[in-house]
Amino acid sequence: MTTATAGDSKTEVSTTAGSTNGSIPDGSTTDGSIPDVATSDGKATLLSVENVTLSFGGVKAIEDISFDILEGEIRAIIGPNGAGKTSMLNVINGFYHPQQGTITFRGKPRRRMRPYEAAASGIARTFQNVALFKGMSTLDNVMSGRSLKMHRGLFWQMLHVGPARREEIEHRQRVEEIIDFLEIAHIRKQPVGKLPYGLQKRVELGRAMAMEPDLLLLDEPMAGMNLEEKEDMSRYIIGLNDEFRTTIALIEHDMGVVMDLADRVVVLDYGRKIGDGPPEEVQQSQQVIDAYLGVAR
Ligand SMILES: Nc1ncnc2c1ncn2[C@@H]1O[C@H](COP(=O)(O)OP(=O)(O)OP(=O)(O)O)[C@@H](O)[C@H]1O
Ligand SMILES: [Mg+2]
Repeated sequence: MTTATAGDSKTEVSTTAGSTNGSIPDGSTTDGSIPDVATSDGKATLLSVENVTLSFGGVKAIEDISFDILEGEIRAIIGPNGAGKTSMLNVINGFYHPQQGTITFRGKPRRRMRPYEAAASGIARTFQNVALFKGMSTLDNVMSGRSLKMHRGLFWQMLHVGPARREEIEHRQRVEEIIDFLEIAHIRKQPVGKLPYGLQKRVELGRAMAMEPDLLLLDEPMAGMNLEEKEDMSRYIIGLNDEFRTTIALIEHDMGVVMDLADRVVVLDYGRKIGDGPPEEVQQSQQVIDAYLGVAR
């Protein structure tokens, strides 16, 4: 079976459909600005997924899925285990390359993109299993999220003078704001590997925030947390959405959390989309209820 490992060049599953489909137009405008696609309710579409299919050998992880994410919303992606949720995020941020379909981010369509290109264009993420530099402190982990934003070369940074010094001060201020916002000042010097899991998840969110993304992808940010930790994390996510105006795609199993946080929900099951709409509507859908109860199809 073809296996795809995250972040590895081996992840490039063949794109037969891509080669027959010709080139994808570059959606950027002539003056270099990024077009917004306005929808009927006035909110612009930040990202759209169109007819995406992703297979691993014989396994279809995602089958012909389309949905969109509007600017400023919290969009939940839910579904039973193995439904294709993580695979979907991996396609959006360029970890996996779909055999078919297109992702359009800020009006710019593409079939394949590298993770660093996704990050540079404003997409950040956290992982289902925390992925931090375990031996490094909280502060350094959050700071590492700034690396894409650091413009001065290593030479200037080593000299610690002039523009590089100014830039570093600016980055540190930004990072301090995030540390305050997430209430992790007390663990700023501690190596993250030694922190309880709930706090590691918070540090990982901090690192993603440090990238100042337009779109933040959160893969089960509350998994393994107790009720109090979940409430805290919910508060940070809402704050991030409200105060920092960050658009969020959130994979979450806890239905209470989804109902509280999400503006709209897309439901996946066995790689297919079986629901899409406001939480209260999706919750009533018989197809969705059946999927969660494991009703035989
Ligand atoms: N790298 C891979 N190689 C082979 N199969 C994979 C790979 N990644 C995912 N799959 C398969 O794709 C399907 C969807 O997996 P995915 O991890 O996207 O599900 P999920 O909805 O995130 O599930 P969970 O809720 O358990 O995290 C599963 O059948 C899984 O076994
Ligand atoms: Mg998953």
